[in-house]
Amino acid sequence: MKRLVSGIKPTGQLTLGNYIGALKQFVKLQDELEDTEFFIFIADLHAITTPQEKLALKRNIKSIAALYIACGLDPEKINLFVQSEVLEHATLGYIMESTSYIGEMERMTQFKDKKGKQTEGVRTSLLTYPALMAADILLYDADIVPIGDDQKQHLELTRHLAQRFNNLYGETFVVPEGFFPKTGARIKSLTEPLKKMDKSSENPKAYILLLDDLNQVKNKIRSAVTDSDTHIKFDVKNKPGISNLLTIYSSLTDLSIKDLEKKYEDSNYKVFKEDLANIVAATLEPIQEKYDQIISSPYLDEVLDKGRDRASLIARKKIYKVYKRIGLGRIK
Ligand code: TYM
Repeated sequence: MKRLVSGIKPTGQLTLGNYIGALKQFVKLQDELEDTEFFIFIADLHAITTPQEKLALKRNIKSIAALYIACGLDPEKINLFVQSEVLEHATLGYIMESTSYIGEMERMTQFKDKKGKQTEGVRTSLLTYPALMAADILLYDADIVPIGDDQKQHLELTRHLAQRFNNLYGETFVVPEGFFPKTGARIKSLTEPLKKMDKSSENPKAYILLLDDLNQVKNKIRSAVTDSDTHIKFDVKNKPGISNLLTIYSSLTDLSIKDLEKKYEDSNYKVFKEDLANIVAATLEPIQEKYDQIISSPYLDEVLDKGRDRASLIARKKIYKVYKRIGLGRIK
């Protein structure tokens, strides 16, 4: 049986970018892939690479768990768990730090972006983040890792580390493949369409949260930055704003970008945005309803307990094998 692994950091609420680039893909794959076991987790250890407020972190962990289910993941079919509850992630993370080089970590664009111009107070774990991400994936011998474009470089490094470890200590890890959505692997900000849609943006109009009030959602789409032209055409270079909205529209419907260009050939931005506003709101409405039903129910804890137990079983066996390969501990 094959294995699929992916995770989301609980550093705030999830955006439409997370939904299109990740969650929606998980649900699609859950229904399409046979003979594949899913390990989907809440990456709380990754969250503390930057400061987090304790109560907010706790709330976000639960909130993401509920959103996974509200978006359509079926706990009967997949293993859903909290990363820090399976101790082997941190253990293998350290072993991956001992497999990787500082130069490799420093070259990661996400590290450079997140560190910015800060010279003090940057946590060591922000630098070593990709080692932990490699551990998350390799611990389960994942064959397939669905992610958005921004995680591509981390996955490449994971592949290198798996190969390096296998060369050093003998065949141990499966070298994973990334799986990227055909459209929507990089949803852009609604106010600065050259940047990715990110929950850490200062302007809340830049992103749509999955739990945003639906009227607010519609207003955000209506006020999304576009160009002064009126043609609805996909042209990322010259028309990044409308291209981003076309990508969102196409990702949430069965219509291709070509279909949409044709449909709105004689139309204008106002009509197009109004239609899209309704589509986004209609996508989020049932998700929010389901979320409200499960966020405070004991069911959520039952699902996370079951997921943790199954993940721990696999992870324990894998760590045992890794220790043995390296010569750690007293394992014969
Ligand atoms: P995170 O929490 O930043 O994002 C979760 C997932 O959402 C995707 N994503 C997007 N996709 C399209 N457009 C966007 N604007 C957008 N923003 C985010 C991300 O690509 C990601 O797939 N390091 C990971 C979490 C992680 C992980 C893992 C993922 C930890 N360990 C192991 C896979 C496997 C992260 O920070 O994602």
